[in-house]
Amino acid sequence: MSSPLLEAIDIRRQYNVRTAGGVFGRKAVLQAVAGVSFRIDMGRTLGLVGESGCGKSTTGKLALGLIPPSSGEIRFVGSTLPAIGSAAWRDMRRRMQMVYQDPLGSLDRRLQVGPQIAEPLIIHDIGTPAERRERAYATMASVGLQKHHFERYPHELSGGQRQRVVLARALITEPKLIVCDEPISALDVSIQAQVVNLLLDLQDRLGLTYLFISHDLKVVRQVSHDVAVMYLGRIVETGQAEALFRAPAHPYTRALVSAIPSLGEKRERLILSGDPPNPVDVPAGCAFHPRCPFAIARCRSEAPALRRQPDGRAVACHRADDDAIALAA
Ligand SMILES: Nc1ncnc2c1ncn2[C@@H]1O[C@H](COP(=O)(O)OP(=O)(O)OP(=O)(O)O)[C@@H](O)[C@H]1O
Ligand code: SF4
Ligand SMILES: [Mg+2]
Repeated sequence: MSSPLLEAIDIRRQYNVRTAGGVFGRKAVLQAVAGVSFRIDMGRTLGLVGESGCGKSTTGKLALGLIPPSSGEIRFVGSTLPAIGSAAWRDMRRRMQMVYQDPLGSLDRRLQVGPQIAEPLIIHDIGTPAERRERAYATMASVGLQKHHFERYPHELSGGQRQRVVLARALITEPKLIVCDEPISALDVSIQAQVVNLLLDLQDRLGLTYLFISHDLKVVRQVSHDVAVMYLGRIVETGQAEALFRAPAHPYTRALVSAIPSLGEKRERLILSGDPPNPVDVPAGCAFHPRCPFAIARCRSEAPALRRQPDGRAVACHRADDDAIALAA
């Protein structure tokens, strides 16, 4: 069995917020991540999907130790993440990087891109200026950028080139893990495939491990070995990507997959009505019940646990074994 690079053990993250109503709004607690566990083995990709606001980015930030969990634990190569800001944390951060959606927003418009790519080496006190420049050139080459791009400013590059710069900056410290948070969503469709292929190629060459966050299920299917589906701060289904897309077991996953006809096998479209409920006022029982066409009385009072199925995936649904919605059918 391969070893886990990253493990999340029942992580939670809550925020104190004020509900609508201005000064009359009441104070409330929002559970952005409400008890999430997963593991990613070395060299593998876990795709994290779900509607806007379900907690994907918060999970990504918790995984990298950019924000502390309210409870639970993150382990990286078997060790609990050190306290944020400590020397041990800074050292570990070299091994874990994040790539965000908006390459322009991740870069400083006033600086040439070369020094920005090399900057993490300065932060981590690695090499001489000449060595840093050489390493920047080598990393740029590995993501398909040329030497002459070093002196360019972000606005002088194409969207695809900018995302390559962001990747080079993430790669220069030779990380093991990269959290990709919607890495292609802001790119033109024509260059999305290039960046996806580059990510796959880098994984092959460098043995990288990815937590890949996206609401583009087609891309998630293309890049992920395993997938976790989130709904209102919880994982409702997780398993091997091919099996999950071929025969989604949770009604929410079914709805997501069936909305994209080219995914999975031909099956009746399951329309998902309404928006997700307010995360400060999560419905009792199964949080999905107000939108679920298969809800029964038990779903309104009892929250389903994430239970392992015989085929290895885990599903949080009281009716996961129910023939009426058996998805392999
Ligand atoms: N700093 C914060 N303070 C208060 N609430 C927050 C904060 N950060 C996130 N949230 C809330 O936590 C929930 C999860 O947010 P998160 O950014 O993780 O969602 P997401 O799944 O990444 O959504 P998207 O697909 O839109 O990027 C949302 O309801 C969001 O409003
Ligand atoms: S537990 Fe009930 S409401 Fe929730 S997904 Fe399953 S059938 Fe639907
Ligand atoms: Mg997000």
